[in-house]
Amino acid sequence: RELRAAMESAFLRHGMTTSYEPIITIHGEVLHLHGQTNALAAGDMILADVGAESRGGFASDVTRCWPVTGKFSATQRALYEVVLEAQRRSIAKVSPGASYRDIHMESCRAIAEGLVALGILRGDVGEIVAEGAHALFFPHGVGHLLGMDVHDMEDLGDLAGYGTRKRSAQFGLSYLRLDRELAPGMAVTIEPGYYVVPAIMRDPRFASLVERFVDRTVLAKFADVRGIRIEDDVLVTDTGSDVLTASIPKSVADVEATMRS
Ligand code: GLY
Ligand code: MN
Ligand code: MN
Repeated sequence: RELRAAMESAFLRHGMTTSYEPIITIHGEVLHLHGQTNALAAGDMILADVGAESRGGFASDVTRCWPVTGKFSATQRALYEVVLEAQRRSIAKVSPGASYRDIHMESCRAIAEGLVALGILRGDVGEIVAEGAHALFFPHGVGHLLGMDVHDMEDLGDLAGYGTRKRSAQFGLSYLRLDRELAPGMAVTIEPGYYVVPAIMRDPRFASLVERFVDRTVLAKFADVRGIRIEDDVLVTDTGSDVLTASIPKSVADVEATMRS
């Protein structure tokens, strides 16, 4: 509650409001958790998904995660770097003509590669992504259109996000909110994440994926990480992209330095 009050007071001082109800929690694995009921303890990570809305009505949508103590544990840092690498690789692909679905798949591959390198997932990265096993830990889409609404034009269903295309039925990909080629002037979020959701891990529908691809012994060693998401707002320009939220600390070094100060 104190974090939320601090962030919203900054918005108010700039004559702005929030563009959606903030998500500020130590349970980042609960995707849209709006209550601020958890006391912060050493060892927890905070996930803050908070956006301001300009006087003209334009929405922003930003997520950062940081350790309560100001210093990432080795396990928190390792998984944070996996999500950050996924986000960097997806942002690098934002340009006119790029397929947003490909940008999503880039994050899926990066998460799969990172989790294989840590030993949490095992097997061939191509097979993991084709079978959707990465979605056990990254169950949502990489982002959405952003504009005068935070999930811009979703009141029209999939009309703006998909046009005549249809959503995939595969778990994970089915939650992708945008499947179009990008054009200058469009703004999108890029927000991959890593989550350990007990309901997914014990869901009988995913039992064979978990059995084949997840090393539960290794996963248990990363128990101090429940949910990480990193989200920036990216404008498609004539020649590439402009990360509108780039000045907000994001690297491990910058987050820890900000906490120290
Ligand atoms: N804040 C909602 C979202 O990230 O889509
Ligand atoms: Mn968000
Ligand atoms: Mn978002």
